[in-house]
Amino acid sequence: MRIAVAGATGTAGAAVVAQARERGHQVVELTRAAGVDLVSGAGLDALLPGADAVVDLANTTTTSAAKSHAFFTAVTTGLLAAEARHGVGHHVALSIVGIDEVAAGYYAGKHAQESAIASGPVPWSLLRATQFHEFAEQSLGFAKAGRVSMVPFGHLQPVAVSEVATALVDLVEAGPSGRVQDLRGPRRELLVEMAKKVAARRGTGQRVIGVPMPGGYGHAMRSGVLCGNNKARTGTITFEEWLG
Ligand SMILES: NC(=O)c1ccc[n+]([C@@H]2O[C@H](COP(=O)([O-])OP(=O)(O)OC[C@H]3O[C@@H](n4cnc5c(N)ncnc54)[C@H](OP(=O)(O)O)[C@@H]3O)[C@@H](O)[C@H]2O)c1
Repeated sequence: MRIAVAGATGTAGAAVVAQARERGHQVVELTRAAGVDLVSGAGLDALLPGADAVVDLANTTTTSAAKSHAFFTAVTTGLLAAEARHGVGHHVALSIVGIDEVAAGYYAGKHAQESAIASGPVPWSLLRATQFHEFAEQSLGFAKAGRVSMVPFGHLQPVAVSEVATALVDLVEAGPSGRVQDLRGPRRELLVEMAKKVAARRGTGQRVIGVPMPGGYGHAMRSGVLCGNNKARTGTITFEEWLG
């Protein structure tokens, strides 16, 4: 199959590109280097003709609901319109476990993305996954003062991005499937402890402090809704194994 990947240079995107190529698919990377701006839609018309599916793994890093909403709406509607113009028959996207419980901040954009896909012109598949193991490393940079990183206090059930990529490429091959079973990792972890382990592994002397976050996101972190429930499919690679 010919698979176009938006966000191909990102954490999930690079893993999907690698797995799709391993399985013998032809991959088209919708990257800035290839002349694509996913927010404006520039460059898509040159690269989408002939694609069987688009996997959207674009992302923005923001805690602003307005910025997240604007980004995911622009990227999703731009991709779907270009897919419709070029007869691409399958849009595959990755969302996040637990977002029904959190309307605030970054998650507002993920709600907008899911709505645009469900009401859009292209047959689709949507997987919700928990945070990747890499989230622990990313969290060290969220709020940093010198050698101290303040990390949101709460639980996650992180999953290996390689297992997420396998599920996404499986979906591409299966064809439009709608919303499928959520995917989460094998163990519930405290984000602060994950971040401390990553910091120790780096060996830079970074101190990590857990900070209870205000608002809907902070409540979701503490309540455990981001860990998903036992209806979810469970990956096998633990955070410790990933770290090793
Ligand atoms: N990270 C997690 O723990 C997690 C968990 C569950 C679901 N998800 C979802 O998975 C998806 C991917 O997340 P990720 O963490 O893998 O993302 P990421 O590592 O932050 O990568 C984001 C990608 O989007 C690209 N991008 C952003 N703006 C662009 C633009 N205007 N034009 C072209 N490319 C643009 C980036 O390209 P450049 O490199 O050129 O900037 C990069 O390839 C997101 O929808 C996220 O919500 C993430």
